[in-house]
Amino acid sequence: MAILDDLPRNEHLDTLKEFLRIPSVSAQSEHADDCRDAAQWVQTQLEQAGVEAELVETAGHPIVYGEAIVDASLPTVLVYGHYDVQPPEPLDLWTTPAFEPTVRDGCLYARGATDDKGQMLTHVLAAQVLAAGEGLPINLKYVIEGEEEVGSNNLGPFLRENRERLACDVAVISDTSQYGPGVPAITYGLRGILACEVRLFGPKRDLHSGVYGGSVANPANAICQLVGALHDADGRVQIPGFYDDVVPLTDEEREQFAALPFSDADYLAEIGLTAGHGEPGFSINEQRWARPTCDVNGLLAGYTGEGPKTIVPSQAMAKITCRLVPGQQWDTLTDSLEAFLRERLPPGLRMEFDREHGANAIRFETGSRWMKAAEDAIEAGFGTRPVFIREGGSIPVVATLQEVLGVETLLLGWGQNTDALHAPDEHFSVDDFHRGTAASIALMQRLAADAAA
Ligand code: BES
Ligand code: MN
Ligand code: MN
Repeated sequence: MAILDDLPRNEHLDTLKEFLRIPSVSAQSEHADDCRDAAQWVQTQLEQAGVEAELVETAGHPIVYGEAIVDASLPTVLVYGHYDVQPPEPLDLWTTPAFEPTVRDGCLYARGATDDKGQMLTHVLAAQVLAAGEGLPINLKYVIEGEEEVGSNNLGPFLRENRERLACDVAVISDTSQYGPGVPAITYGLRGILACEVRLFGPKRDLHSGVYGGSVANPANAICQLVGALHDADGRVQIPGFYDDVVPLTDEEREQFAALPFSDADYLAEIGLTAGHGEPGFSINEQRWARPTCDVNGLLAGYTGEGPKTIVPSQAMAKITCRLVPGQQWDTLTDSLEAFLRERLPPGLRMEFDREHGANAIRFETGSRWMKAAEDAIEAGFGTRPVFIREGGSIPVVATLQEVLGVETLLLGWGQNTDALHAPDEHFSVDDFHRGTAASIALMQRLAADAAA
């Protein structure tokens, strides 16, 4: 289609670079104004596509809501994305600065390039291209939030309070990955998550470990005992009832996973490892897509500066997340995790347990009319048909969209898992950025054509 071959690529790339220069780090309060700037920037871009857009205030960073109703009899697609990004640290490991977007070897390097500014923008640019040409072919609603990377705690209430306004036929999100280079994918399942922070308090000040050591519980030792108790030697999670509600993989799905091209050795080599680890009896794709986990994301205790220091530290803390699969409930499992840790707390220590956020896993049946349209659209944009995969990451809104609006979400990832998302030197293939825009245009046109047929 001519429109797909004639995209204003340079203009689109410059627009993305402008977006990437805004350091909208949702986790760091010093960037609150930058988050608002990013929200306003998105609002302006939507307005340039003929989408009426506003900022919706929340207890945290604003949500951008946009709406273009062309004709109530046409299908309505709700596009979700996030303008917030992960913290750029460690800064010294970036080849070029995180918020100075730079193209090298066909990729654009910057925090948020793939997660999610670059991917999300494709659906806004697609609307701009169509609006400037023959007009928008379907109704569009946009929910672009600024708190995905911190758990989307203020998004659920917005969706619930605006149920009617947000009514749609299907949701579209580009915030996942292709299966591999040249292998685009439709993701039909994501893991859920629960996140907490555990803090242990011991003596009221650091103690001389010779004078006091042995007579009091050490918070650093204790946090290690607690997190050490979470798994057995094979990597099975030891929280009582953790696996009770897990919906097991069917033989059919295991065969589908096994039919995807995969090399254990290449997978490990790309991340600098020679051996994997985890629940025995499952392939790597089964482990990361369809089995639950529990991981320590951060640990802090005692003296970690230069040279020795003999103390019993006064405090220790751990950040813990579990990845969840269909059947598991994040809120009751958070209770189970807290109880598991409290039972093992050595006498003399006090524990604070903060629940940070949570979301349930999702899994859609493949083969809906929406998925068929997406398959064709991806073929139009990428030149090849997608494979169907599940992913191990989480996007909290997907379960909420299903629960509140009753819709399926098309998870159309344009990125690659090797794009260093959440890490230094995050990048996004410039070609995939343009292909994503083309696929988004094709999807909108295809849904309009389906409706007319
Ligand atoms: N875009 C990712 C999720 C993702 C990445 C899914 C790659 C599949 C493949 C998203 O921005 C993300 O990082 N989500 C967080 C969730 C959260 C509640 C903080 C995650 O998965 O850790
Ligand atoms: Mn994301
Ligand atoms: Mn992310």
